[in-house]
Amino acid sequence: MLIHHIIAIDGPAASGKSSVARALAQRLGFSYVNSGAMYRAVTWHVLLRGVSVYEPAAVAAAIEQSRIVCDLIDNQSRILIDDHDPTPHLRDDDVNRVVSLVSSVSRVREILVAHMRECANKDDVVMEGRDIGSVVFPETPFKFYIDASPEVRVQRRRAEGQRDEIAARDRADSSRVASPLVVAPDAVVIDSSTIAIDGVDQIMERLAAKGLPVHSKTEMAPRQRMNPYYWLGYWLSRLLAQTFFRFRILHRERMIQSGPVILAMNHQSFFDPPLAGNAADRAIFFLARKTLLDHWFWGWLLPKLNVIPVDQEGNDRSALKALIRILRAGEATLVFPEGGRTLDGNLQPAQPGLGLVIAKTLAPVVPMRIFGAHEAWPRGSNRIRLHSITIVVGHPIFFTQADVAERGKEVYQRLSERVMNEIAKLTIDGKG
Ligand code: CDP
Repeated sequence: MLIHHIIAIDGPAASGKSSVARALAQRLGFSYVNSGAMYRAVTWHVLLRGVSVYEPAAVAAAIEQSRIVCDLIDNQSRILIDDHDPTPHLRDDDVNRVVSLVSSVSRVREILVAHMRECANKDDVVMEGRDIGSVVFPETPFKFYIDASPEVRVQRRRAEGQRDEIAARDRADSSRVASPLVVAPDAVVIDSSTIAIDGVDQIMERLAAKGLPVHSKTEMAPRQRMNPYYWLGYWLSRLLAQTFFRFRILHRERMIQSGPVILAMNHQSFFDPPLAGNAADRAIFFLARKTLLDHWFWGWLLPKLNVIPVDQEGNDRSALKALIRILRAGEATLVFPEGGRTLDGNLQPAQPGLGLVIAKTLAPVVPMRIFGAHEAWPRGSNRIRLHSITIVVGHPIFFTQADVAERGKEVYQRLSERVMNEIAKLTIDGKG
């Protein structure tokens, strides 16, 4: 069973699959794995060692004896062979010429497929290649085959200034015995020679239709993005809160109503998420612990209310990744910079998680402060009191490249603190 989402992007040489796969990975916040680069890397290694590429047994032996390390670094696959980084040589003429031959050796494929599967154990990935949907991950429901007319493909390679006999490679890739280039029966074929842009929007739509939680920037206007459940929850929580808690939102006009944005608020009670959601005209995303969704009812309802399950809230890796993915998709999300709910009603120190998300996405932050929710429903109490609740929205904070030029825990901590300081400045009497 697959533990992560795998999006398979297959197709012939120079069909445009690399740019599609990269753009998709970027939009979805997935890692990008170029399986072709792995075949190119071992080809370079075999050539370097002077092994005859015409002798499959010798090629297989050379690869078996080498130490291949494959990892995801900065959301991309990287390969090292016997401690060498082959990256600068992947598009060498020699490699272009014989890569299809080396790739036709089944033992070579076996070894590299194991590495590909390892990558997919570590993260959600967009993987491009020839046989990703047909052989490497036949079980993934997300398969695309990017094609383009031979003329367009030759033209593209020429424009890249490469000597690459793509027709010969295509012939070799399609006719080999081991995992030939084929269109997987359940793959969606996209002809990129006829698509003016790049086909990414089309794929995003297909992914959404197949149930992957993607939220493309090109979807409808934000206000319309609320599904009926969200819309009902939104208005019901507003009505109930106004009736029982005299709920008010001050400076709602400061909210950023489109594009990626982090709503950062202090955390007092379980009322906070729906009330914070009311500060925006559009649907926003919330994170919740996976276990909350174990219950049949919540498991059914919460995803409809844009609740994304994560291993743990706060600084957990899966939570941070989910936030980055939401923001890269151009959406809005609620973050509690303090991590958890306050015990005594006071503000708590900021955690570095928010800063990391800011550094990775440069998304603007709207600081918000909630008052009265602690009195209405203190942490650890079963009793709800009819105390008035107010949210004050602050001025958005826009970060620049310079703010995130350095990386590291201290930098993230400082970014989080900057947001927390803005939250602390907000007051009900309007000075904030
Ligand atoms: O040039 P282009 O980017 O289209 O090709 P690539 O993805 O870099 O792949 C180079 C070569 O590796 C292909 O021509 C195939 O022979 C081989 N390959 C493969 O056999 N299976 C894969 N999943 C990916 C690449």
